[in-house]
Amino acid sequence: MHVSLSFESWTDGERQVKTLVDGLDRWEVHCASRLTVTFSDDIESTCLDDAIRLQVVQAPRALANEKMGVGACLWDGSIILGTYLACQPRHSFIGCGVVELGAGVGLLSTLLCKLGARKVYATDLAKVLPLLQENADVNGCAGEVMEVMALEWGVDTDHLVRADNLNESFGASAAGTRDAYPDLVIASDVTYHDNEASMQPDTVEFVKLCRRLCGPRTEVLIGLERRSGSVRDAFIAEIRKRFDVVSMVDLRKVRGFPKDLVVDHIDVWRLRLHSTCAKEKEKKKNQKKEKKKSAENITRDRSAAPL
Ligand SMILES: C[S@@+](CC[C@H](N)C(=O)[O-])C[C@H]1O[C@@H](n2cnc3c(N)ncnc32)[C@H](O)[C@@H]1O
Repeated sequence: MHVSLSFESWTDGERQVKTLVDGLDRWEVHCASRLTVTFSDDIESTCLDDAIRLQVVQAPRALANEKMGVGACLWDGSIILGTYLACQPRHSFIGCGVVELGAGVGLLSTLLCKLGARKVYATDLAKVLPLLQENADVNGCAGEVMEVMALEWGVDTDHLVRADNLNESFGASAAGTRDAYPDLVIASDVTYHDNEASMQPDTVEFVKLCRRLCGPRTEVLIGLERRSGSVRDAFIAEIRKRFDVVSMVDLRKVRGFPKDLVVDHIDVWRLRLHSTCAKEKEKKKNQKKEKKKSAENITRDRSAAPL
């Protein structure tokens, strides 16, 4: 897989188009008003039809919290997680129902539309939605497939009602052929410390919402930027509490994942409520049996113990 980013920006009063050659450069990315992100099988095919080319419209001047906040620009986690998605076999997302949480400029949602998703709900705070909608429009995703909607976690219990509505929508649009749950819940870089303490996204509420959206077959994919040890610890403790299957993807082992994009500061997590893998199920069953056995042994020992 080859990923290229080109930017439109202004230098000394002139419009420039530059291409980022190696790795990621947040400063370059955040200076641009518009980016083109291309995912292609190899460098040569970036110009061919099978490459996926996405436009990203940003609002760098609105990055301040009192304006649009961090949803105004594209973050590294989405580029990494997007590349991970693009490395999966091409049929993987055809017909999928997806919810993206904290979508920002919506790179992952628009990519999933291009990869064949049936329905994508791209969600974020209300103040980010006009930019998210613009990104759906410029990529030709708006309408039937991609819907932009407000979904905020951690402020009140209202979001739980909306999560139920989302699941109902999945049920209705699948017309009884699938679960009333998304196949994929996806989010990137949505748990972090903010300069303004009151603007902190609530990690526990975020994980609770992911759990709430999940059905038995839903997969959750999260790109986590390592910004703060305490946020990461809270995230890991919470996902372990609420999901049965938790694993961190080793990007170096993902077929086709570009070496220059294997970075230390972004982790990709995969979560599920239940294991679909027979081996995992067997392991869990055995663990339960062992637990029961040792509990019985303890009771027997106690009753046999001399007074
Ligand atoms: C660092 S940005 C990442 C944006 C995008 N996922 C990306 O990777 O480019 C964090 C995103 O989370 C959203 N966010 C923060 N707190 C939120 C909350 N409580 N509910 C919903 N979205 C939230 C922000 O509006 C912003 O779009």
